[in-house]
Amino acid sequence: MKITVVGTGYVGLVTGTGFAESGNDVICVDINEDKIKKMQQGIVPIYEPGLETLFHRNIKAGRLSFTTGLAEGVNFAEIIFLALPTPEDEDGSADLSYVMDVAGKIGEIMEQNPVNTYKIIVNKSTVPVGTAEKVKHLIKSKTRKEFEVVSNPEFLREGFAVDDFMKPERVIIGATSDKAREKMRLLYEPFVRSGNPIIMMDLRSAEITKYAANAFLAMKITFMNEIANFAGKVGADIDKIRIGMGTDSRIGKRYLFPGVGYGGSCFPKDVKALYKTGLEHDYEFKLLKSVIEINNRQRTILIPELKAFFNGNLKNKTIAFWGLSFKPETDDIREAPALYMIDELLQSGANIKVFDPEAMDNVRQKYKDRLQYAANMYQALEKADALVISTEWNMFRTPDFDRMKKLMNRIAIFDGRNLYRPELMKNLGFHYISIGRPDVNVSHKLWKEF
Ligand SMILES: NC(=O)c1ccc[n+]([C@@H]2O[C@H](COP(=O)([O-])OP(=O)(O)OC[C@H]3O[C@@H](n4cnc5c(N)ncnc54)[C@H](O)[C@@H]3O)[C@@H](O)[C@H]2O)c1
Repeated sequence: MKITVVGTGYVGLVTGTGFAESGNDVICVDINEDKIKKMQQGIVPIYEPGLETLFHRNIKAGRLSFTTGLAEGVNFAEIIFLALPTPEDEDGSADLSYVMDVAGKIGEIMEQNPVNTYKIIVNKSTVPVGTAEKVKHLIKSKTRKEFEVVSNPEFLREGFAVDDFMKPERVIIGATSDKAREKMRLLYEPFVRSGNPIIMMDLRSAEITKYAANAFLAMKITFMNEIANFAGKVGADIDKIRIGMGTDSRIGKRYLFPGVGYGGSCFPKDVKALYKTGLEHDYEFKLLKSVIEINNRQRTILIPELKAFFNGNLKNKTIAFWGLSFKPETDDIREAPALYMIDELLQSGANIKVFDPEAMDNVRQKYKDRLQYAANMYQALEKADALVISTEWNMFRTPDFDRMKKLMNRIAIFDGRNLYRPELMKNLGFHYISIGRPDVNVSHKLWKEF
């Protein structure tokens, strides 16, 4: 099939490359000229494991190309995917301007084309309920040509995007005609040969399914953070609790790890957008309101611990950070908890020295010379008064603790991802604070109260 994908971010580029990999001819369109130029030169503009191989293979095979020309993409394709940003607006709702702007232009381009070919415009961006209908009305106001709008929300996870796209657990299609449903089924069948379902539904249900899934996962993480905070207060161990809970198949083992809150380009904005959409339809999601509030608090939950350690004075203290991306295996720093902590620490007069295996360029662009950038994880520790671990990259899991001790000014670790065993850290002589586990530094003071 002939496919065009508009927007070549984490979703669009993986989608375009994935469809090319299964034999389709794909044009990827983006407004960002630098990005398109890079891709035309064979450079992948984002970090996503496994993407590079597929990217090069399909360019070489002539199935994948890039342009800034929307008209070229629209006139070429039978199916046009919108993988455009839907960022958080000032009031917390989803900003639909990117989607509506491109939808309007697609209508105009279709009208100008003398050939009358049926097109399917597929919305892959995460959008509030009712958006597909809005897109349909807008395009209809611009052209008399035959087209349909389909909702096909994306569930890929950054860091696993290629695998998730190539072998999705399910494909959700919201459509209004058998013709569109059949085309979409044909396109996706090669990706679900192992038997995972292609689930057909109406447009509105498809749009809500995406928000409901993200809000549920954000809630699951948040629930565990609440239990962890409580466990830490009463001398219990969240890791034991987590394993005890996770063995219940109704709960499951995943998304139970406590930490410094969720971040990224999806959960924060999607939970807020669903809450906002609820209000617009006269429904208040009280649960989501709490999730948002708790997560806001969780992102900086280590700051009071740091302040206590330095007797309230962080001025000129050097704090090292391991991990800046919102999760491992991505260079994406959108809404990353590390940045919220860094902002607070900078305000308190601390010096910040950072290391991340993939996100350094993005962080440098944002903070410029306000931070010190280390070439590797150990260099970040040189003369540091404390280390904050904010992202659980594999390389941080088994570090050389002796080397760390020699490099650091004061051997204190504030671990936002519970990477190490508290008892081990105590034996090694570290001041060690983690999330929701007995505080080894105060030697079970709280236990005695029970
Ligand atoms: N990132 C994820 O993990 C993920 C997962 C599932 C769903 N989503 C959703 O998918 C959508 C896209 O997310 P993303 O993370 O890929 O975004 P992104 O910000 O990484 O990429 C968006 C791309 O669109 C381009 N763009 C902006 N305006 C354009 C225009 N007028 N014409 C052409 N291109 C334009 C940008 O230059 C950018 O390259 C969002 O709605 C998001 O919520 C994201």
